[in-house]
Amino acid sequence: MIGLFDSGHGGLTVQRALEARFPQRDFLYLGDHGHAPYGRRSAEEVLSLTRDGVARLFAEGCRLVVIACNSAAAIALRRLQQDWLARHYPEHRILGVVVPVVEAVTQVPWSVQSAPPEHVGAPITVGVFATRHTVRSDAFRIEIRKRAPQIDVIQQACPGLAGAIEANAAETRLAAEVREAVAGLTKRLNGRRLDAVILGCTHYPLVGPLFQRALPSPVKMLSQPDLVADSLANYLKRHPEFDALSPARSPGSTRFLTTGDPEVVGRIAQRFLGHPVVFRAA
Ligand code: DGL
Repeated sequence: MIGLFDSGHGGLTVQRALEARFPQRDFLYLGDHGHAPYGRRSAEEVLSLTRDGVARLFAEGCRLVVIACNSAAAIALRRLQQDWLARHYPEHRILGVVVPVVEAVTQVPWSVQSAPPEHVGAPITVGVFATRHTVRSDAFRIEIRKRAPQIDVIQQACPGLAGAIEANAAETRLAAEVREAVAGLTKRLNGRRLDAVILGCTHYPLVGPLFQRALPSPVKMLSQPDLVADSLANYLKRHPEFDALSPARSPGSTRFLTTGDPEVVGRIAQRFLGHPVVFRAA
């Protein structure tokens, strides 16, 4: 069983892509809706909430967990992998959602830490919309430029957007938040053309069309959930020890847990997942 963790609903956009890619596989989703959005919490709080969430998924029998939240991955993933995992769960693994995007944008594997000499392409500009935590961590910019210095990465924080999506806000409010974010990024472009956009928060695919509409011209938008699904397929091929399918999968054996109110969460979750879903209290 593969575990997915997010601060709330956002990871369901990843869950949706994984369900489509791995229809035979069981997942266990944990949304920390009781503490969402993580944007209003300190980095130390995000670290400890993420550690608790991942530990809960391990305790439920997941040996592989995907942190389907950019903020949590940017703040906590490396720290958990380096220290906590080795000490307490040497047989378990945690993956994130930043790595697949960096690999896709740069076309350089994560294990390669510097730009291959033959890889100097034409300069391009990539925009990243993300939470304040993710932008502050600088993870997308640092990791992309390390492998592909010709790529200029312009980041724009959207402080209220994940919370507004989480709270099921009206489209007019969401559109206003998105327009403000796009205006902020456009200002920072200083006249340069935008070649591609990364929605670096798992909540944002839900307002992807609003971003497309607000951007000055149609721009290639990378689908993080699909890239995560591709990357997981690749990981499972390389790590067959995590690839055991459950012997008799019955429909609905994927489970959904929340630290929030299961009824409220279940009602909103359908929009993210594309089908009805029952959440249980974590
Ligand atoms: N889905 C989270 C992310 O990808 C949103 C963070 C939040 O709860 O503020 O960053």
